[in-house]
Amino acid sequence: MTKTYTILFQPDEVAVEVAPGQTILAAAAAAGVVLNSLCGGDGVCGRCRVIVRSGKVSGGGMEFFTREQIRQGHVLACQTRVESDLVIELPAETRLAEAPAEADRDVPVLADFSQLTGRGIQLRPLVRKTFCRIPPPSLDNNLSDLQRLETSLGRALGTTDFQMGLKVTRRLPELIRKADWQLTAVTGHRGPLTEIVDLEAGDTTRRNFCIAADIGTTTVVCHLVDLSDGQTLGRAAKYNSQAAFGADVIRRIIHAAAAPDTESALREAIVGDLNELIGELATRFRVGLGDICLISAAGNTTMMHLMLGLPAEHIRREPYTGAAYRLPAFRAAEIGLQIHPRGLLYCLPCVAGFVGADIVAGIFATGLACGEKVRMLIDIGTNGEIVIGNKDFLVCASASAGPAFEGAECRSGMRATRGAIDHIRLYDANRVLNYSTIGSEPAAGLCGTGYVDLVAEMLRVGLIDKTGRLLDDPNHELVRTSADGELELLVAPAAKAGAEDVVITQADVSNILRAKGAIYAASSVLLHALSLSFNDLDQIMIAGAFGNFLNLHNARLLGLVPDIPMERIKFVGNATIAGAKLTALCSDCYDELFRIADRTTYFELSTDPTFMDEFVSACFFPHTNVQRFPSVMAELADRRAESK
Ligand code: FES
Repeated sequence: MTKTYTILFQPDEVAVEVAPGQTILAAAAAAGVVLNSLCGGDGVCGRCRVIVRSGKVSGGGMEFFTREQIRQGHVLACQTRVESDLVIELPAETRLAEAPAEADRDVPVLADFSQLTGRGIQLRPLVRKTFCRIPPPSLDNNLSDLQRLETSLGRALGTTDFQMGLKVTRRLPELIRKADWQLTAVTGHRGPLTEIVDLEAGDTTRRNFCIAADIGTTTVVCHLVDLSDGQTLGRAAKYNSQAAFGADVIRRIIHAAAAPDTESALREAIVGDLNELIGELATRFRVGLGDICLISAAGNTTMMHLMLGLPAEHIRREPYTGAAYRLPAFRAAEIGLQIHPRGLLYCLPCVAGFVGADIVAGIFATGLACGEKVRMLIDIGTNGEIVIGNKDFLVCASASAGPAFEGAECRSGMRATRGAIDHIRLYDANRVLNYSTIGSEPAAGLCGTGYVDLVAEMLRVGLIDKTGRLLDDPNHELVRTSADGELELLVAPAAKAGAEDVVITQADVSNILRAKGAIYAASSVLLHALSLSFNDLDQIMIAGAFGNFLNLHNARLLGLVPDIPMERIKFVGNATIAGAKLTALCSDCYDELFRIADRTTYFELSTDPTFMDEFVSACFFPHTNVQRFPSVMAELADRRAESK
């Protein structure tokens, strides 16, 4: 029998049996405990710290700890191997919360189907249920059972092009007679054909539901939708469990390519998340899993690949090619999704290795591809995706912004969950005026919107200069030198003993500077390639990591968004889930999404000779060319005059 050890995780009191030599990070994943593992277990981020309370371990990573911490049992979970039964304490900052706080705060663009008819969108779901009263056969009319079904169904749906699998055909004769020739046909949109997915006795048309899924690198969101009237019944979200393999898509691709079992671990992680959310919604709204016959899923290209088990390795290597961008509907059960056993999974189309179905869904939901007016959509996440267009053209690009706006790769960075500082004001260089935290909990760190506010305020009160350099002035009481000799600003003292102070370091400011520089530069280069400027845009729509909670004034002060009137900048909430939902509700919308993907031209920034110059110019607050930001410069000048 294979020897195993028992690992007990506290304070959860969750235990798991693992083989000797497993890492503590892998043991935690096996126990269903998701640890912060930004670098995906490479031992370089230092986020997976745990404390070994008892037992024997081996491994490295000690350079992250003081002598006192090593004596207390602090180790990196990813670098430490199990050598006996263990009791492991999980510090709060090492845990990834189960449910993102922003899940409740997501503002769907289009929650109510009745709002959509104005756009000419009709309720014609990808999977429909149609009740049929089928005339029984007689000696005068002895057509086959299938012909009789197709005739009745064809009359109701206005088509004659059906296909039905052998499994359902085998069941038909008995079912049709038992049901006294009264059946509900579950039909799925399959391009020019209509698939008879399943047959149910009697009239079950009132029980037809779908899941719209936004599969984000950080967060997975599902909406349960009633396909009979288009209403959204409920929403659920959780952090993507693939986070155990790294915070960004590149690290996850590397892990997936490492071995067949790591590839399946990544697939199982996302499929498990989806099943958990589907199960939660089904239970909460008393919907049987068998009554959910459709999943409409959108995510970035890597997430779509990893969910389907497609090799994603080539996405990260020049020329950044995915295995497939347009896929037909699959049986959801084929990848382990737990809905109706014959239910269909519709994956929305991608455009390129770094412009995925999430962006295509966003283009559709925001109506960017319609009308004369030229607009820009910016989706801010680990990558910043930018689309410019109207009914005549659509051009998109992807800028690697890094995960700073998602609270990663910053000393006190955290996701927008409980305890994260989301808004902040500095009174002057020595005083934090006030801040708010999500859930009004003691401050545990800073999320993306908190960083934007904080860096903007530091610029206003003169704690950083336009290059982002933290000013070393002994008169500034909040600025101090950290143990590793780096300048940092104390934002909030540790909430409790054992926790760390919330600070922003010089490196953090530089991360924010680069992230905003990448997004601004990508937008500028794309506009320039189209011979347009920011002033030619009728509107800039912002989707992604910040939700609707970004302080636009501060974003403009940093040069993240251009210096245009605020009324021309609009938040669009979770445009991805809105697009996924619309396509589930309307088969014409699904077809339109493929046309949008076909029409969208991908612009490769890495080969554009002007991008690097633009990026370097944008790595100033707000920009090297201050004439592009007149209102920001006026505000900073006023502020300086006031403080004299
Ligand atoms: S150091 Fe362990 S996950 Fe990064």
